[in-house]
Amino acid sequence: MSVKINTLEFENVKRIKALALEPSPNGLTVIGGRNNQGKTSVLDAICWALGGEKYRPSQAQREGALLPPTLKVTLSNGIVVERKGKNSALKVTDPNGNKSGQQLLNSFLEPLALDLPQFMNSSNKDKANTLLRIIGVGDKLDELERTEKEMYDKRHAIGQIADQKAKYAKEMVSYEGVPEIPISASDLIAQQQAILARNGENQRKRQLKAQYDYELEQARQALDEAKRRYAQAQANAQTAAKSAEDLVDESTAELEKNIADIDTINTKVRANLDKMKAEEEAKGYREQYDALTVQIEDVRKEKFDLLNNADLPLRGLSVADGELTFEGQKWDNMSGSQQLRVATAIVRKLNPECGFVLLDKLEQMDTDTLKEFGQWLESEGLQAIATRVSLGEECSIIIEDGYAAGENAIPVPASPEPEVITQPWNTGKF
Ligand SMILES: Nc1ncnc2c1ncn2[C@@H]1O[C@H](COP(=O)(O)OP(=O)(O)O)[C@@H](O)[C@H]1O
Ligand SMILES: [Mg+2]
Repeated sequence: MSVKINTLEFENVKRIKALALEPSPNGLTVIGGRNNQGKTSVLDAICWALGGEKYRPSQAQREGALLPPTLKVTLSNGIVVERKGKNSALKVTDPNGNKSGQQLLNSFLEPLALDLPQFMNSSNKDKANTLLRIIGVGDKLDELERTEKEMYDKRHAIGQIADQKAKYAKEMVSYEGVPEIPISASDLIAQQQAILARNGENQRKRQLKAQYDYELEQARQALDEAKRRYAQAQANAQTAAKSAEDLVDESTAELEKNIADIDTINTKVRANLDKMKAEEEAKGYREQYDALTVQIEDVRKEKFDLLNNADLPLRGLSVADGELTFEGQKWDNMSGSQQLRVATAIVRKLNPECGFVLLDKLEQMDTDTLKEFGQWLESEGLQAIATRVSLGEECSIIIEDGYAAGENAIPVPASPEPEVITQPWNTGKF
């Protein structure tokens, strides 16, 4: 069961003349009043009573008071805390009536609950670290963030290379209508030799015809004696002439040209191959980049799960880029009341034994928001003692000129001493 404040009794502390208050054990107790009436002095007095010497106000005794300050706070665990006498010495009495000291108070006090602005004004990173410390995932998250950063940097470098490679590949020349691999001269030469061989055969046939022509001539000359041979030779000559007529020589001109063009073509082929290689390289880097993107997303999800599965002080709290967020908003984007709720929830978790928190200057909340905040505090079983420049119904007590002036004010046991100095700000003009 966390410790709450049951009653407060203060006299002659800072602006307070005499005041007693029984704050609500759960939810909001608003100390209202105009400016400079002693509202914040009440919170200062609580801090001093419970927090110890380091919270002693520089001018603790009320100016003009004849008697030194007296403070008495009773707590829900039965402990009574008092400061009185010339030196405002601390007296802590436990429920059994034993004397005790500051150490006992410190065991269930959360310093930030006394000084919420200290948390609220800390850096965004510090707030996030406080949260991570509470939920106990700081180390794991650090590790994930380190991994994420490493992958991010690597992906960035690879992305730059991929871009450069793609740009380089784009700038390289390429040619249409050339083979995909360099061509070889030996094929063409073999083809040429085959044609030359066939042409040689043709040449041989031509020579045969010439021979028959010669023999015909011879036979003609010996016509009489070789009529039969002449007829035969004539037939032969006719046949040979006929087959020679149909002969057509193939051209090697194109092959010759191709052989001559080999170097030019191969230069182009190699250019195309180089470009293809460059494109493949660029594609490879792009694929690595995409793979890293997937990995980074995985790490981010792991981070998200880590925080979301943790026992958070408040639903909607998270950490992004090392900064505290609430419902996706960073601190400077939260409304004043959201900031208060976040701060209160976190501070409460820092020391669950401390069941109260002090909140100065709640003017930033309208009455609806205030009510909602009060309900939230109640649902959390938290006691908050707050101040607010207001005389409205939301106030549990109104302070005027260092005295309680409200229906809920408890009669102060000690009688207030007469006013010695008239202070100009107590005339109600401000
Ligand atoms: N020891 C003191 N004796 C008398 N007045 C004081 C003392 N300390 C501060 N004050 C005065 O009290 C006023 C502020 O009191 P505070 O409790 O902060 O008022 P509130 O919060 O209601 O505006 C200031 O005018 C300040 O000068
Ligand atoms: Mg104030």
